[in-house]
Amino acid sequence: MVEFFINGQPVQADDDQTVMQAARANGFYIPYFCWHPHLSVHGNCRICVVEVEADGGGWVDIACNMPVSKGMRVLTDSDKVRQRRKDTLQFITLNHPVDCGICDKAGECTLQDYHFEYNGSPSVSRDAKVHATKHFPLSERIVLDNERCILCTRCVRFTREVSKTHALGIQQRGDHSLIRPVEDGGFENDPYSDNVIDICPVGALLSRQFLHKARVWYLKPTPSVCPGCERGCTVNIWHRKDEWKLKALDQRQNARIDRVTPLENPAVNGPWICNKARDLAQIFERARAEQAMLQGKPAELAAAIDSARALIAAARQPVALVSSWGSNEELVAFNSALGTRFTCHVKADWRPAPGERLEDDVLIKPDKNPNTAAARALFPALPADARSAFRPGTDLVLVWGEGFNFAHLPTGAKIIYLNAWLQPENGHADVFLPISVQTERSGHYTNFQGTVSAFEACFAKKPGVADAEALFAALGATR
Ligand code: SF4
Ligand code: SF4
Ligand code: FES
Repeated sequence: MVEFFINGQPVQADDDQTVMQAARANGFYIPYFCWHPHLSVHGNCRICVVEVEADGGGWVDIACNMPVSKGMRVLTDSDKVRQRRKDTLQFITLNHPVDCGICDKAGECTLQDYHFEYNGSPSVSRDAKVHATKHFPLSERIVLDNERCILCTRCVRFTREVSKTHALGIQQRGDHSLIRPVEDGGFENDPYSDNVIDICPVGALLSRQFLHKARVWYLKPTPSVCPGCERGCTVNIWHRKDEWKLKALDQRQNARIDRVTPLENPAVNGPWICNKARDLAQIFERARAEQAMLQGKPAELAAAIDSARALIAAARQPVALVSSWGSNEELVAFNSALGTRFTCHVKADWRPAPGERLEDDVLIKPDKNPNTAAARALFPALPADARSAFRPGTDLVLVWGEGFNFAHLPTGAKIIYLNAWLQPENGHADVFLPISVQTERSGHYTNFQGTVSAFEACFAKKPGVADAEALFAALGATR
């Protein structure tokens, strides 16, 4: 450890820390664009300058690349530092379009924040701004606005150091410099590409999904867990704030997922997620099943529950296929209400989609279900040949969740089916019970390493559907 001084206060730091790291660890604020705690140091934006006091006058230098040394004295907000940051911002915005009014980053943009804090004055340049590409198609997912880019190289370093696709670089020199993808399409196929949207400190990298969809201050994040694989990355699901609900326009916009961003979690995913999590709306906004059914005909939920109870009471050899998307709470509720009544097997609700990356050494795991670990701690897995799970005499099968081929069900057995989505199998069950989805309830998943993560409800439960946890209690209460 070394002791040095920030703004006159003694600070303890590790020998190998930079002034930036030590300052942040001790609660001192230093602005930064190009520095990122999970990327290498490039030191190109110069906004992080601090003043080093020394006999004979001292100097100003960047904090992100300055090692701490014993007894050094650093000022983070002196007049000299503020003037240098003002000059730096004049330089960074020399060719910047300042089109914040139409920029998706507005409200989350550090260039806006630092400009307000340190510059606050119009450009002193009398030259016309150099224009660059406004809507360069970086990939099918991302549009690049080169005029807004401040060439911090965070996106380039991300593809070199994290996703390892080496898919982005800088072409040309000086004020003609442009971020461009490499020609072999590596960025298009980078399953982590959307992280560059988050780490871009300005509005240069734009999500096509989110482009001009909402101002970020109309939205709020709800902590959640990506169900896309057994890693269980923690995410924020962004949706419209109650106070900004639309009254006249399409009401569905008030209950939709506007975007998904990483929720930093050192124990699971660090600050990153893969693109599958960004696309959670494609999973959660599929057509929903909202109507209970008896033999394919609409029924009241209460009547369907009564029928399911009767089937369970009458069964001699019932089998249950347990969902690997059920929360820890739902699994416990199932086990305590019905776990001994049924012979239980855990099924994979989701399997890898054609062409989907199966596994890598960043985050992606091969099991595409979020809670297999917790389900398997209670029940054995469904055999590869699902038919072998049904012994002769199986007279009732409870299927919880999607992904099971009904053709594998034993002939003549009654079927109770719990599912959240509008799918053809629903009408083939003797009793169909529609259930809520993850975005409508709170709970926990346990990932493949045994780490438990919480998710919270974003939206109200659909009318006509039940929470599986309450449903299991109701079904078990009959015996
Ligand atoms: S696009 Fe964004 S992250 Fe990439 S260099 Fe430009 S400002 Fe930095
Ligand atoms: S690695 Fe798995 S859990 Fe994490 S974001 Fe991707 S699909 Fe979701
Ligand atoms: S943050 Fe230090 S030079 Fe950019």
